[in-house]
Amino acid sequence: MEILTLLTEFAKETLEGLTASQKYLSSKYFYDTNGSRIFQNIMQMPEYYLTNCELEIFETEKQRIFEALTENSTQYNLIELGAGDGLKTKVLLSHFHDQNAFFEYTPIDISEDAVKNLVLNLKQEVPGIKINGKVGDYFRLIEEINQYDHTKKILLFLGSNIGNYNENETLSFLNKLKSVMHSGYLLFIGFDLKKDPEIILKAYNDPHGHTSAFNLNLLQRINNELNANFILHKFRHQEVYNPQSGTAKSMLISLEKQEVEIHDLNKTVSFEKGESIFMEMSQKYDMKMIMDLANKSGFKIVRNFYDKRQYFVNSLWKLK
Ligand SMILES: C[S@@+](CC[C@H](N)C(=O)[O-])C[C@H]1O[C@@H](n2cnc3c(N)ncnc32)[C@H](O)[C@@H]1O
Repeated sequence: MEILTLLTEFAKETLEGLTASQKYLSSKYFYDTNGSRIFQNIMQMPEYYLTNCELEIFETEKQRIFEALTENSTQYNLIELGAGDGLKTKVLLSHFHDQNAFFEYTPIDISEDAVKNLVLNLKQEVPGIKINGKVGDYFRLIEEINQYDHTKKILLFLGSNIGNYNENETLSFLNKLKSVMHSGYLLFIGFDLKKDPEIILKAYNDPHGHTSAFNLNLLQRINNELNANFILHKFRHQEVYNPQSGTAKSMLISLEKQEVEIHDLNKTVSFEKGESIFMEMSQKYDMKMIMDLANKSGFKIVRNFYDKRQYFVNSLWKLK
C-alpha cells in the first residue's frame, strides 16, 4: 500500500516537473535501489568532503554530542529523517549504546531498501540496539512521532539534507518540525558551510562520473517505473555554484532537440537542444545564515560542532 502511494506520488510529481515551463524533477526520487548504491559511491569519493567532515565531527565529539543531546535524560527516542545508510549515525548510536543509554532509534527514509539494509546492519553492528525503521515521506511521518515510545524526542537531520531545500521550503519544513516538537525536544541538523567554490564544485562535478550517473539514474527510474524512453546519453549532467548565494545546483542538459514518451503518464515531453532539467539544489551556509534561519523559524541554537577545517557544522537546536 505504502509503495503504491509512493508510485502514484512519483508519477504525479514527475508529470508536474516535466510539464513546468522550467523543467524539474524532485531529488527525493533519486534513491531507488540503484540510486542508493550510486550515492554510496558518491559518499566514498575523496572529493565529496561532506561525509568525512561529518564523520570526523561525530568521531571526535561523540561524548560531547551525547551529553548535549541527552542532557541527563534516561529515556529518549532518536528519530532520523532521511537516514540513508546511516554510515555516520552509527558512530553516535554505538557510542550512545556503550553509555548504557536506554533509547530507541527510528530511522525514516523514503527508500525501502535504505531502511531495510540499515535495520539489518545495525542489528549486527550494534547488537541490542532498539530500532524501529519506517519507510515513507518524512513530511508525512513526522506527524506521528508523538505516538512513539519515550517522551523526549531528538530529531536528527544530518548530512546536509537540509541543503536540498530552498529558503521557503526550508522555513516551511522547520515550521512543520516545530509544530510536532514539545518543550525539551531537540533538533540536530547538518549544514554544509560556504568554502572555496572550487572545492564545492569538485564535490559535485566529480571526475569519477558518480554524480552524473546519480542524476541520470532518475531518468532511468522514470523509464523503468513509468514506462518511458529517455535515452540517457542524450543528456549531460551540469553543476553550477553561486558563491554569493551559496547555492549549488545540479541540472541535466538535453544535448539535442528530442521528444520523450512517458507511456504511463500518456505524455510526450519535448526538449530543445540545451534545455535543462533542474534536479537538485545543495545550499551552502555561513553561520549568520544559520543563526537567522534558527531565529526566523522559532528555534534557538544550543551548541555547534565543527570539523577541524570548519567545512561543516552540526548544529543543535531547541525551541525558543
Ligand atoms: C543525501 S541522502 C543522506 C543520507 C544520510 N542522512 C547521510 O547523511 O548520509 C538523503 C536521504 O534522504 C532520503 N529522503 C529524501 N527525501 C525524503 C523524504 N521526503 N522523505 C523521506 N526520506 C527522504 C533519501 O532516500 C536518502 O536516503
